[in-house]
Amino acid sequence: MTAPLLAVQTEDGIARFMRIRRQTLALCAGLSPEDLLVQSMPDASPGKWHLAHTTWFFEQFVLGHDPAYRSPNPAWYYLFNSYYESVGPMHARPQRGLISRPTLEQIRDYRSRIDEAVGELIVQGIDATLAARIELGLQHEQQHQELLLTDIKHAFWCNPLHPVYRDAPAVVAERKPLSMRFLPGREGPVDIGHPAGNGFAYDNETPRHRTWLPAHALANRLVTNGEYLAFIREGGYREASLWLSDGWATVQREGWQRPLYWQEDLSSEFTLAGVRALEPQAPVCHLSYFEADAFARWAGARLPTEAEWEDAAANVSMTGNFQEDHRFHPTITPHGDGLQQMYGDVWEWTASAYVSYPGFKTLPGALGEYNGKFMNGQWVLRGGSCATPRDHIRASYRNFFPPHARWQFAGIRLGQDR
Ligand SMILES: [Fe+2]
Repeated sequence: MTAPLLAVQTEDGIARFMRIRRQTLALCAGLSPEDLLVQSMPDASPGKWHLAHTTWFFEQFVLGHDPAYRSPNPAWYYLFNSYYESVGPMHARPQRGLISRPTLEQIRDYRSRIDEAVGELIVQGIDATLAARIELGLQHEQQHQELLLTDIKHAFWCNPLHPVYRDAPAVVAERKPLSMRFLPGREGPVDIGHPAGNGFAYDNETPRHRTWLPAHALANRLVTNGEYLAFIREGGYREASLWLSDGWATVQREGWQRPLYWQEDLSSEFTLAGVRALEPQAPVCHLSYFEADAFARWAGARLPTEAEWEDAAANVSMTGNFQEDHRFHPTITPHGDGLQQMYGDVWEWTASAYVSYPGFKTLPGALGEYNGKFMNGQWVLRGGSCATPRDHIRASYRNFFPPHARWQFAGIRLGQDR
């Protein structure tokens, strides 16, 4: 083996590869083959497809890096390619739920075979390019773990039986809520973006660059269910002046009156642990950008920009409620000084459009399609959620979704000018 260039080339790196791959299967424990085949909407994918697509990623970009590699199932490339136009055609995304063959058992076998082959490759010795591709494959796997959870949540919500994914203790407040306070952020020139040579980052987090922050403040905690309920009760969904034009059109067209998984009685919500009483002190989630923006306007505030968020988050400990906590639901804000729940619980919508940083360059080749081509019509979210693996998040991480998307664990932190 050549000298280790990335963590994945070390003994620990191999263990990490296997741990992350196994974790995806662990998230599927208790789900039936039928659960894993269902596709509840074009934006969501079946669990089985996630299991296969993440495996295809390693086959295509790691094993396939060797020109002599021949896949035993070349037809599966078409089924499990997501959006990489430069490596070949792909099955239509809205029809992923129709892929009953290969069977779930064949997909599990596919995962084992590819894991074994990639593991052998790591042991034999890999160069920096391959090490970087394996690392990207693992980060990609972790992104799909979160999608697997949000997609099965949507599928179970669509089922009138409202099945339970994993039982978990109900979130119940035991003391008065932490009052919302606005904490001043830095004003003036700051650097944001991932510092080169400081571990893994996606291309869209680079290059680190200078930007200017206006006088501003960020709320010390997330917006709660109780606060969002007040917005609803005061007619938030009926007042056009609170909404962006596209947001108001979406409210009208979709008949939105409350967050995605709230029940009509406004006192309970669907969670991955089934229908639960709405806890007023827990952070509100499953909101679109449009709803987050309208709420902020109603509250006399605004959403933070991603630069304001990142500059503040860089000095906050990366603790929080993540996938490893097995709650799969946001928890009540802990009492404390400073910014609370910056990481975990819910992704925080920002006021920043998802565009390239100055000097941005995509990765070379097909992997340049990973992020860059989505830089239009979407908004940046920060901080990770209760479905994000703990070692997947960082201050510079830029998640992005279209402004109408509601099925992710997305919520609100308010910001304001000073
Ligand atoms: Fe993917």
